[in-house]
This record gives sequence, structure tokens and C-alpha cells, in this order.
Amino acid sequence: MKPVPLDAIRPEVLELAPDIGSRPDVPIYLDWNESRWPLPEGVLGGMAEAVAGTDARPYPDRGYPAVREAIARLAGWTPDGVVFGNGGDDMLALTGLATTGAGRRALYPSPGFSMYPWAVRLAGGDPSPVSLRDDLSYDVPEFLRRIEAERPSLVFITNPHNPTGQLLPLGALRELAAVAPGFLLVDEAYHEFSGQTARPLLDEFGNVILLRTFSKAMAMAGARLGYLLGAPEAISGFRRAQPPFPVGVYTCRAAAAVMRQREALLEITARITAERESLAARLGAVPDVSVWPSHTNFLLFRTPMESTVLARRLLDRGVALRDFSRHPLLQGTLRVTVGTPEENVIFLDALADSLSSAVHDSELQVAGMPESPVA
Ligand SMILES: Cc1ncc(COP(=O)(O)O)c(C=O)c1O
Repeated sequence: MKPVPLDAIRPEVLELAPDIGSRPDVPIYLDWNESRWPLPEGVLGGMAEAVAGTDARPYPDRGYPAVREAIARLAGWTPDGVVFGNGGDDMLALTGLATTGAGRRALYPSPGFSMYPWAVRLAGGDPSPVSLRDDLSYDVPEFLRRIEAERPSLVFITNPHNPTGQLLPLGALRELAAVAPGFLLVDEAYHEFSGQTARPLLDEFGNVILLRTFSKAMAMAGARLGYLLGAPEAISGFRRAQPPFPVGVYTCRAAAAVMRQREALLEITARITAERESLAARLGAVPDVSVWPSHTNFLLFRTPMESTVLARRLLDRGVALRDFSRHPLLQGTLRVTVGTPEENVIFLDALADSLSSAVHDSELQVAGMPESPVA
């Protein structure tokens, strides 16, 4: 067989992290911040009906008018200021391609969402991390200083932030938008859980782009739909870096049905938010566990046990959580998605069980623990 020409793959692509592969087979997934709550009959029925009646023989209308207009209406924005694709991740890749590349820099929060540096590297650009403070809060003055010094074409801000759950006020985003010479992408993947959006900034700044997704509060992670809102000239520029048919008709029809049921989904969002506060209180009451306040559908918490060991023990008890301990500021931390009330009880029991069965000193972190949350 002729050998595979691996050197024909761009070296910066080969340096990207490999495919994450399949998930472990466990009953309770609290690792990827999906919606865990059962959906009302109206939502399920609406989606099923929309998809069942769909003719998939023709290509979609390239302008996707129905979904574009429905998204624009919900956001109170103009349809030509909307671009969408195969999930928020796809929108990050599009943003990287459209605004970075050789000789261009993008600032992003670290720790933070791993797809930001991925999107910039993929485009051949230069991702530049801006560290959170030791207590994991955003260091806005440092962002402002680095923007002035490095003149990036793109700045990523996750609001609320993943994995800490913190929320920056609009005033801070305004300051960043005013100083940024290029685009400020405000990733609002979890905005429905926070009750805040940077949507007003679109009226004030031509360089602000909002990223949103149907994967979290809209409970459609498997269908894959994410979108950007921005000035029509910006969006028109971005769309040139996209293939003509970025989303399938089934996803579009399902999303249109979900948008018609938005009120029902926002009721579930409110229940998840209440359950988050209850879970935070119960988690914080576990001895030696500290929890960060969150404006999302997940919680970041720290225990004295080494995170990788604890994640493994929880997995053995059927609960998958997300371990971020490779980042120096996140040692001892794990992120848990707010599950259903029943799942959260199982998780808390598994946690207490796992922590109490720490038998080897090597499993307990002894020195150099980073700061825990103040609140
Ligand atoms: C901060 C943030 N942005 C974007 C996304 C992308 O979500 P999706 O590709 O499912 O739309 C996620 C998913 O976890 C996220 O946490």
C-alpha cells in the first residue's frame, strides 16, 4: 500500500488535540452541560411533527429565511445580522477562519473553553491566553492592558464563563468592546440561565458578536444548531467563510418548532436555575468542599482529593463529571452539570462515598492548593 502522506497534513492541524472519542457508558452524564430534564409533551410533539413532515429531497433555501427570521425576532435583531451553523463549536471555527489566520492574534480567557484556541490554531492564527485571577475571577484590567499591547483581531469572552459560572456585568463588556481594535465575541452559550445578555451592546458597537446555541437551555445538543448575532456587514463577511448549506433541514425544522415552545423551555430553565442553587447549597455543606457561585446550568467545586482520582471514583459509581485539573488554577476542581433532582441526589451520595473512601494519602492534595471561592 502506498504510505499515508502525513506530512501533507498541515503541521498546526496535527498539533491540535486528537478526537475525544466516545463517552464512558454510565447511567448519569453530568459532564457536558446538556439539558438533563424531561421535555414537555408539547416540545417533543412539536419537534416530531416538524421533522416527520419534512421533504429532504431538495437542498435547503440558501438564505434559510424561516429560521433566520425566527432567531432574529427572538433576539430583537435584524435577520441579516444572523449566521448559523452546526452548533456553537462550528460558529467558533467560522469566527476563527473569518477573523484570524497567519499573523493575527486572538485573546481568550484561561482557564476557559478549549474550542477558542482550537478555532484560532485551525485558522493558522495565534491564540494568546489571558489568565483569570487566582480566585478564578475575570481580570478585566489585564484584558484591557493586553488588548492595548497585542492589538488582537479577536477577543473571546464567555459570559457566563465556563467552567467557573461567573458573570461579567455589561459595563465590563462595554469597556472591552470600546478598546478592542477587532471583534469582541461574547459567548452566551449559557445566557438563559443568567438572566443577562449583551444584546444591548449590538446597538452600540459594530465590533460585538454574540454566540448562542440551542444545545443548553433549548435542549437540542444532539440536533446541532448554534448562531452568531452581529452587525450585518460583519455577518456578511463571516458568511463568505461558510459552505452554502451549513445546516440540515431536519435541524432547522426542529429548531423552528422549539422556538415556538420557548416559553415552556424557559420554565424548565427556571427550574434548573432553582435546582442549581439548591445543589450548590448541598454541595457546599459537604465537609471540605467549596463551590463557586454560578450563573449557568453547572457548578465548579473543589475538594481536597485529587480531581482525576475523584472523577474516576464517581465514574465507577455511575456518574460522569468533568475534570479540568490539568490547568494549574483548577487543581482539585471538578465541574458538575445540574442534573434532575433525582440525579443530583445520586451524585451527592456518590461524592460523599468517594470522598470518605480516600484511603491513600497520595489521593489527598496536600500542598499548593490554589485559592477557593470567596462567596
Ligand atoms: C462556552 C461554550 N461555548 C460554546 C459551546 C458550544 O456548544 P455547541 O457546539 O453544542 O453549540 C459550549 C458547549 O459546551 C460552551 O460551553
